[in-house]
Amino acid sequence: MDRLIINGGISLEGEIRIAGAKNSALPIMAATLLTHETVQICNLPHLYDITTMLELLGCMGVQPIVDEKLNVEINSSSIDHFSAPYELVKTMRASILVLGPLLTRYGKAEVALPGGCAIGSRPVNLHISALEAMGADIVVEDGYIKASVDGKLKGANIFMDLVTVTGTENVMMAASLARGQTVIENAAREPEVVDLANCLVKMGADIKGQGTDTIVINGVEALAGCSYSVMPDRIETGTYLIAAAATRGYIKVKDTRPDILESVLSKLEQAGAQINVGANWIELDMQGKRPRAVSLRTAPYPAFPTDMQAQFTALNSVADGTGSITETVFENRFMHVHEMNRMGASIRVEGNTVIVDGVDTLKGAPVMATDLRASASLIIAGLVSDSETSVDRIYHIDRGYECIEEKLQLLGARIRRVPS
Ligand code: EPU
Repeated sequence: MDRLIINGGISLEGEIRIAGAKNSALPIMAATLLTHETVQICNLPHLYDITTMLELLGCMGVQPIVDEKLNVEINSSSIDHFSAPYELVKTMRASILVLGPLLTRYGKAEVALPGGCAIGSRPVNLHISALEAMGADIVVEDGYIKASVDGKLKGANIFMDLVTVTGTENVMMAASLARGQTVIENAAREPEVVDLANCLVKMGADIKGQGTDTIVINGVEALAGCSYSVMPDRIETGTYLIAAAATRGYIKVKDTRPDILESVLSKLEQAGAQINVGANWIELDMQGKRPRAVSLRTAPYPAFPTDMQAQFTALNSVADGTGSITETVFENRFMHVHEMNRMGASIRVEGNTVIVDGVDTLKGAPVMATDLRASASLIIAGLVSDSETSVDRIYHIDRGYECIEEKLQLLGARIRRVPS
């Protein structure tokens, strides 16, 4: 198992390119199950989670082809298994995204029930109840969600009790081939949901309202192949911007989308960053200054994303002043706090809020990553520390950040990967 060794204390400076968004690539890959024609997906990030999704499609009998430009072509007409095994689901919860497409196109699906994980219990009850409202028979047995439908799923009015990103995506995919109209209320408005909807529309789906909290889908007979380019990763973008701000540096991120990062850019400005944006780039300059502490509260889009909470905790840990960070989406997303305190941070957890008193500098230490975004925050903590930090269990980071050490090296960071 690899580790990252970081010798901190350097202000990041330079330019990097942002990869395609993991959380829109994964549902788009699942959406290829909705047609027997070939779907070409461009701008796929090179990540473990993408490899896991390719493996999942492979174990169903689908053989994705990677072309010379590293685009992936997926033709699901050779599918002969309709199940997502526990071995894959336990490494990637997003495997649940095959449930809706398999059920609506083939009338059956078995997907291992994802368990809890490092950030919370994360049930999938809303996925299940929505598909049941559309006529599916679902039992949970032997650790699997076993779903079937006699004939086609039928459109339904679905009110989501909680805003759920993959839940909205699963229902949207299922509804695109269902009989009649489906209305999803309290739908997730995340840009990744919109990206999936845009891909489905390119495949011939009839979807309106994506990006609002009411999505209306009129089922069609069949979907067709298409070529689709995945949108840029807003969380990767934000993570590098925060890393530059925490280290009092300068960064230009290219091939990204400032319009979907408003809540994050506004917090970075409050922290003292000067920000300039163009159509597909963002420039951040701290002019060598220490960041000011910021307070924030996570919530579904367009509010501040939970996937960027840990990184802001790292920034606050060396900021001027005291900041409070409240997590409202997941119940247990503060595992990074204890590791940062081992590096000399002054952070206390009070219910679903952390109070961070900024200190002058952190001290390097061996730390352990517990989930994807926590790993990113520990790397930022390592970059602002005054000595060597070793981040263990970095398989988490490889699930969601493409070539993170190479990109940070481009920005001047002293970071290297070593086998444990
Ligand atoms: N929830 C339920 N029941 C459900 C579904 C969700 O109670 O049936 C709860 C969850 O437990 C959570 C809240 O609703 O408390 C929101 O969860 P959501 O379903 O929106 O999360 P998700 O779809 O499983 C996606 C991203 C996460 C991101 C969240 C929130 C993907 C593949 N994953 O997860 O990304 O944190 O939305 O924005 O899109 C990451 O990339 O590191 C990551 C964890």
